Order: sequence, then C-alpha cells, then structure tokens
Amino acid sequence: MAQLKIIKGDITKVHVDAIVNAANERLAGGGGVDGAIHRAAGMQQLNAACKKLHGCPTGKAKVTSGFNLPAKYIIHTVGPIWHGGNHREPKLLSNCYRNSLQQAVNYHCKTIAFPSISTGVYGYPLGKAAKITVNVIKQFPIQLTVTMVCFDDNTYRAYVHAAQQH
Ligand code: APR
Repeated sequence: MAQLKIIKGDITKVHVDAIVNAANERLAGGGGVDGAIHRAAGMQQLNAACKKLHGCPTGKAKVTSGFNLPAKYIIHTVGPIWHGGNHREPKLLSNCYRNSLQQAVNYHCKTIAFPSISTGVYGYPLGKAAKITVNVIKQFPIQLTVTMVCFDDNTYRAYVHAAQQH
C-alpha cells in the first residue's frame, strides 16, 4: 500500500526517486511548478528530453530524467483544466495520480513527490482536488512512499484536512 506524507515546501528541492510535474499537453514548459522544475532541472536539457516525448494527453504520465534535480526522474502528467466539473475533470485528475504512481513503479521508484496538480493555473477547486488525490493515493495497491509537496499554507491545509477526513 502507498503511504502518504504531506509537507509544505518546494518540490524541486525534495530528495525522492521521482517528482511529478504538473505539465501541459505539449510538454512545452510553462509557469508555476512546471517553470520551477524546468529551471531547476536545466532548461535546455529538459526541453530537449520533453520534445522527444511528443506531448502527453490529459490524465496520462510520461517520464524523463531529473537532470540537475535531486530526484532521478521527472514524471510529467497533465491535469484537467476546470470547466465547472461536468467535463470528466474528477476522472481525469484521478487518472493523473494513478498513472503517475504506476510510472513510478515501472521505473522501480520507492519514493515519489507530487505537487497539487491542476489547482493553480488550471483552476481545479482545491478541496475537491485534495479529496480525490488522497483517495487515489490511499487506494494504490503497491508499496510506495508518496509525499504531497504543498507550496502554500492554503494548499497544505486542504490536503491535511482531506487526509483526516479519509
Ligand atoms: N513546488 C511545489 N508546488 C509548487 C511550486 C513548487 N516549486 N511552484 C508552484 N507550485 C504549486 C502551485 O502553488 C499550485 O498549488 O503547484 C500547484 C499547481 O499549480 P500550477 O503550477 O499552476 O499547475 P496547474 O494548475 O496544474 O496548471 C498547469 O500551468 O505552468 C503551467 O505548463 C503548465 O500549462 C500548465 C499549467
């Protein structure tokens, strides 16, 4: 079973086997956590590696090296853009977490860290996203240590609350 930890911090500094990036479908880099990861990993080398992957559909997950990061791998997943909740957003967000966890297993990782996918620029309501995230992680059947790395107090509180409710 996966074990869940929730911390406040910067995911680019975390020492785990793999970190997850909240990317876009073109894997073209961007702002938010995506921008931070690209800067810390090394812009040029990560952009070149991403280009070879030819994008990533929403809900799926693709893997590159972590380059200059403490993490060995970056798992790039694409969260849904919030369009009100009736456009398969919950299903697509669950798929992001499940497929990323499965990629970690495929690459023999024991420890993985996630940012709060879709709750920044993509506008997914934080409380709803946290609930889905905790459910998927706690139901994942393979042994992994999973750290949710929350960048701000609000995000941290939402995930702690969701974990307590579970
Ligand atoms: N470490 C951890 N979390 C971070 C960091 C960081 N260094 N920087 C930002 N975050 C947090 C944000 O505060 C937010 O809680 O990551 C969460 C996700 O926000 P976004 O990065 O905006 O991701 P998302 O909502 O999934 O939107 C993805 O934004 O940058 C673009 O290319 C990306 O188009 C894609 C979109």
